[in-house]
Amino acid sequence: MGLCYRLFLQVLLLMASSLTAVLPEVGVTNLSSQEQRFRQQRIAEITEMIHVASLLHDDVLDSADTRRGIGSLNFVMGNKLAVLAGDFLLSRASVALASLKNTEVVELLSKVLEHLVTGEIMQLTSNKEKACNMDYYLEKTFYKTASLMANSCKAIALLAGQSAAVATLAYDYGRNLGMAFQLVDDMLDFTGTTASLGKGALSDIRQGIVTAPLLFALEQQPQLHDLIGRKFKNAGDVDLAVELLQKTDGIEKTQKLASYHALQAAGAVNAFPFSPSERVNQCRKALIELTHQVITRTK
Ligand code: FPP
Ligand code: MG
Ligand code: MG
Repeated sequence: MGLCYRLFLQVLLLMASSLTAVLPEVGVTNLSSQEQRFRQQRIAEITEMIHVASLLHDDVLDSADTRRGIGSLNFVMGNKLAVLAGDFLLSRASVALASLKNTEVVELLSKVLEHLVTGEIMQLTSNKEKACNMDYYLEKTFYKTASLMANSCKAIALLAGQSAAVATLAYDYGRNLGMAFQLVDDMLDFTGTTASLGKGALSDIRQGIVTAPLLFALEQQPQLHDLIGRKFKNAGDVDLAVELLQKTDGIEKTQKLASYHALQAAGAVNAFPFSPSERVNQCRKALIELTHQVITRTK
């Protein structure tokens, strides 16, 4: 699912400030720090552009009529313009990325594009066996949602001049936050309302997409296999699947797995090298606070 509006900007700018060894004093011009900050902001902007581009294309693929509480671009302006708008954002993101002249960072974010498409293809081409497989779901979730957060966090760390070990911690934070976000999203698709979510409730299952709550439920309600096999296409299938899910602890297990990933994300930030700077530590606290927000959100 599409991450919340501006979550990427928040996370990446906080990550930048959390990994800045020495921040420029107020009033003192420190060109290299300013340049570093500028480049990190660029990554945050590029990441948002890639994210929005992927959502514009996703809404075409999903024939979605709403996004973030208003009419989706494909619904309002048609598929052709929505695809081109996504392409345009991707082109802008590519130019901005190239302007950073850092091949490692270019490689990281290019890899994300491959992952986004791979995740969508995995979802589109999954057969019954794959759709019932938790590992397949988790891999797809990493590609579709967590890779962008993981790799953009890593890019921020590299641009801060941090070691490979710290860059890996930043990556781990992003990966786990992204996984937690998606698991909660999959849960809210069952527990939220259209009004609270700003998009259709039960939208995954109506599209024949199987997510974590149902995969956990499957262990206790094998009858779900048949429904998954026919992608909930028969009359009453969606209602029956929800009814079967409610007889299990699929929702609770999904919440638990999301909490596990949130905890792992917080652990990665706690493992950042010591900093005496109060500001740096405040930003790290805010990153940890975001892990709580992600798992307690209701929309
Ligand atoms: C939302 O999923 C979709 C994504 C997170 C990725 C979509 C990726 C593509 C369409 C591949 C093309 C990529 C680019 C960069 C153009 P969802 O449908 O589960 O979530 P939703 O409920 O927010 O629609
Ligand atoms: Mg969609
Ligand atoms: Mg989709």
